[in-house]
Amino acid sequence: MKRAFTRFSRRQFASIVGWSALGASMLPVGPGLAQSGPEIGLRDRSARSGFPDGFVWGTATSSYQVEGAVDKDGRGPSIWDRFAHTPGAIADQSTADTATDHYHLYKEDVRLMKSLGARAYRFSIAWPRVFPEGVGSPNPKGLDFYNRLLDELSAHGIAPYATLYHWDLPQALQDRFGGWTSRDTAKAFADYAAYVAERLSDRVKHFFTINECARLVQLGHGTGADAPGLKLSQAGLNQVRHHVALGHGLAVQAVRAHGRAGTRVGPAENAVSCIPAIETPANVRAAEMATRELNAGYLTVMMEGKYTDAYLTQAGRDAPDHTAEDLRVISSPVDFVGLNIYTPDHYVVAADNERGFALAPFPASFPRMKATWLRPGPETMYWVPRHVARLWNVKSIYITENGTSGSDQPAADGTVYDVDRIMFLRNYLTQLQRATAEGVPIGGYFLWSLMDNFEWSDGFEQRFGLYHVDFETKRRTAKLSASFYRETIARNAVA
Ligand code: NOJ
Repeated sequence: MKRAFTRFSRRQFASIVGWSALGASMLPVGPGLAQSGPEIGLRDRSARSGFPDGFVWGTATSSYQVEGAVDKDGRGPSIWDRFAHTPGAIADQSTADTATDHYHLYKEDVRLMKSLGARAYRFSIAWPRVFPEGVGSPNPKGLDFYNRLLDELSAHGIAPYATLYHWDLPQALQDRFGGWTSRDTAKAFADYAAYVAERLSDRVKHFFTINECARLVQLGHGTGADAPGLKLSQAGLNQVRHHVALGHGLAVQAVRAHGRAGTRVGPAENAVSCIPAIETPANVRAAEMATRELNAGYLTVMMEGKYTDAYLTQAGRDAPDHTAEDLRVISSPVDFVGLNIYTPDHYVVAADNERGFALAPFPASFPRMKATWLRPGPETMYWVPRHVARLWNVKSIYITENGTSGSDQPAADGTVYDVDRIMFLRNYLTQLQRATAEGVPIGGYFLWSLMDNFEWSDGFEQRFGLYHVDFETKRRTAKLSASFYRETIARNAVA
């Protein structure tokens, strides 16, 4: 190996290992070139991998996935309680009746966040704890748990970012109104949002309205894989989508009207992600157009206040009933856009067709993480926020979720060596760093998830945590990725 080096001039060698941009004066001189070279490479990488000062590093969870205590202190049942108890609905026949018992172990969990050095925590509020019937009289103990949690977070210097709806709809609203098939649910959501904002905005400065509209619409009401397990017609599904968007807009207005001055609010969307297959100006433009069209029922209508022509044409007679006033509400101005980023949905190429873009089919050989839906595509982390910022002139973005599941078996020494998760995170964070360095206005990143939890219809089979949870004993154990994240936060740079 060493002998091979002698065949290159210094300039040739520098260009091969990627140093030429540094200039010859920065090259090590004298003997030991091969040993000192990599050190320079490392220093340089770390200098270029930094994030802006004040970048918010956090972790995320959601109420139904971690809390447990489903019948404690007056909480009413949610559609997920009902669904998880339906035979065959959950892959491993589990329920989240106790989940990670975060309801009782939250102090320990805040210590785990602290030990990562995280400065923010994204969690969700369980609507059926606050209004067991969805509407009407609030449960007197409904917000007590969140008050305790907020005080604990504040004692540890961790800023709360609260999601108002992460899919645990009060079952009573499903029974009474048909849940999101009715616009009454959108109105009930606004009343609940107003109640929460009024009481918690002294400490919560950032509220997310609805988590991943697209998934709750499609899987909850289209395929039936998520609660409430409906399989609606296309027209029914389009109407649900409209009501969910309306619920978002009404909640934005409610938080504005009832939160303290300075309370910020926005969605937490899993936008359909469109990646230019090759980075050329034409493909980038095509990927932007695809982003706008393929998110027409969600971010596009929220940001533009209209359904695109293509969306309405394609829906035809199945287009949702809506009024101009609905569209005005749906597009109520937001303070930021939250983006859950996991996987590239489409690689896009420019095309000479009506839409101006074509979607490349995925080859069977495309890699996947443990969850088969999760195709790793780190550049998703760069392109989605960039498209969102450029398409709609968005000035503030949070990455509200990103992470992966893994097999996560403890080794003989008890450690979970989840180097696949570290590989995944390192690559996505490198792309996030590119985005911030180029000026995409991303203020923070919430890693999904703080700890293993109830992964919806996959039950406990998919573990997404930085901390391993023994679901029998509820014991939490740091995985190796927790050290990776701690190091990244401490450096404010990709470790
Ligand atoms: C997005 C969802 O918001 C969250 O609840 C889920 O656990 C993760 N994706 C992983 O699938």
